[in-house]
Amino acid sequence: MKNILVGGQYGDEGKGKIISHLALSDNPEIVARGGVGPNAGHKVLYEGNWYSLRMLPCGFVNKNSKIMIGAGVCVDPEVFLKELELTGTAGRAFVDKRCTAILQKHKDEDASAELSKKIGTTKTGCGPAVVSRARRDGVLIADIPEMQKYTIDVAQAVNNAKNVLLEGSQGFMLSVLYGTYPFVTSKDVSASSVAADVGLGPTSIDHVIMVIKSYTTRVGNGPFPAEIPVEEAVKMNMQEYGTVTGRPRRTSPELHWEDLRFAVQVNGATQMAVTKLDVRFPGNNGVKKFADLSGEARRFVDQIEAKLGVPVTLIGTGPDARDIIDRRAEVL
Ligand code: IMP
Ligand code: MG
Repeated sequence: MKNILVGGQYGDEGKGKIISHLALSDNPEIVARGGVGPNAGHKVLYEGNWYSLRMLPCGFVNKNSKIMIGAGVCVDPEVFLKELELTGTAGRAFVDKRCTAILQKHKDEDASAELSKKIGTTKTGCGPAVVSRARRDGVLIADIPEMQKYTIDVAQAVNNAKNVLLEGSQGFMLSVLYGTYPFVTSKDVSASSVAADVGLGPTSIDHVIMVIKSYTTRVGNGPFPAEIPVEEAVKMNMQEYGTVTGRPRRTSPELHWEDLRFAVQVNGATQMAVTKLDVRFPGNNGVKKFADLSGEARRFVDQIEAKLGVPVTLIGTGPDARDIIDRRAEVL
């Protein structure tokens, strides 16, 4: 089985939580990350500890899984080495030898460029590193001495394995191709690109799981329909803060159906995961069976399936990797 998980909104859909559940329940040989780079912050609560990961896949929670970063991802060696230590995953964490390295000059440029300010980038050097790669003056990660022992051919590894989980990053509306250009990240982040990022062809993918949150948030500038002021978001318990930048996220209590329909199409989603249902419908915290959800919460999930035509197989009901309704056995 080779599955891809992608974000269907503006990032911060709760991919980390869903990935950690899938890693624990499906026991993949490899969990590999695609996407842009350390601009993403994936959070996972596991055995009482919060981990905010910007480089390593959240699938690290399964100690039997190898965790890898695909060739398409820009890698900041400092962030990688820090997270390796934090998660204690040395020996089973690897980076594709073709990854482009994020150097100090990329971070400096990202922090100072006028354009980055206009867009509100994460200042993590991702955009400038992507530009270096396109300009053909990028530095490969295999050329950084302290990274050499973690460097392998991830593309070969994922093709040779049977059970692989791919972790996308950011969200569809931030795609440089399909998002709210120019207020987007520096790469396409749809499922096809995530597959290419790690070296898998489209025909080897079994399922594309698109994750959405029960409401919509956006961090950084750009168009954002049905936005509400911070005070209202606080009252609704929906006010969030960026994992990477600490910036307050912008909130819309609604799902943006037109955008989601398009995201389902372009990603080729075959399943959906819906997170933070307990935030939108208080009283449903920690529920593990669909039948135990309140009527209102169940109707909301039914509405998503009816409007988007894709089964909702996974439902997040709390922060822990285990606060989840997994309906795959019933629905698929
Ligand atoms: P960059 O990816 O750092 O160049 O930032 C471009 C835009 O994408 C900014 O609005 C960022 O806030 C946003 N962005 C990039 N990565 C993420 C993410 O993982 N979650 C949410 N927003 C992101
Ligand atoms: Mg995030």
